[in-house]
Amino acid sequence: MAKKLVSGIIGLLPLPLTLVTVANNENVSDIFTASWIGVLCTDPLYIGVGINASHYAHSLIEDNGEFTVNIMEEGFEREIDLLGRLSGRDVDKFEQARLTAYPAKEVKAPTVLEAAISIECKVQEVLRLGTHDYYIGRVVATHVEELVLKDDKLNVEALRPIVFAAEAYWAIGRKIGQMGKTGRLRAG
Ligand SMILES: Cc1cc2nc3c(=O)[nH]c(=O)nc-3n(C[C@H](O)[C@H](O)[C@H](O)COP(=O)(O)O)c2cc1C
Repeated sequence: MAKKLVSGIIGLLPLPLTLVTVANNENVSDIFTASWIGVLCTDPLYIGVGINASHYAHSLIEDNGEFTVNIMEEGFEREIDLLGRLSGRDVDKFEQARLTAYPAKEVKAPTVLEAAISIECKVQEVLRLGTHDYYIGRVVATHVEELVLKDDKLNVEALRPIVFAAEAYWAIGRKIGQMGKTGRLRAG
């Protein structure tokens, strides 16, 4: 193997592909595509999302400090792509993408009715990092579509999540291991 030092953005891959919603205190909401997102802590559960300070969503989350993360299934790549280009400053993005804003349980930001999973978060800390501010949100409610559950666990084959890598959207492939059962100690 010969690795080359590169200057462009590689980051991590694949990245989750999600729809994040926000709202201000007057219940004006927005939705945008977000991949700069990840789980930060298990107990309590925290999810962080980086939001560019120039985005409309940024002004709303600054007001209210809440957001929801929505995981869409394969088949929603057109809506996801659109919501990553349009700004809520110019258009009603829910209407443009023909998605349904559905009231959340604990936060002002709406969930996406068509999402397989919707996670409600309350911002606890903000890191001002540069182009993006990073919002660390404590998870306060999680909604999962029953069809993607099997014995109360996520059935990824049924869920068919989409991921983001190298400026493209990908379906995930086949299962190649099971946590805690795939690794083997070397003999001797
Ligand atoms: C695949 C993809 C991932 C994106 N991830 C992020 C992200 O994590 N954070 C961010 O601020 N913008 C991200 N964007 C860009 C925003 O979704 C986009 O600029 C959007 O138009 C902002 O909408 P708003 O002005 O209504 O807030 C992403 C766009 C795409 C296509």
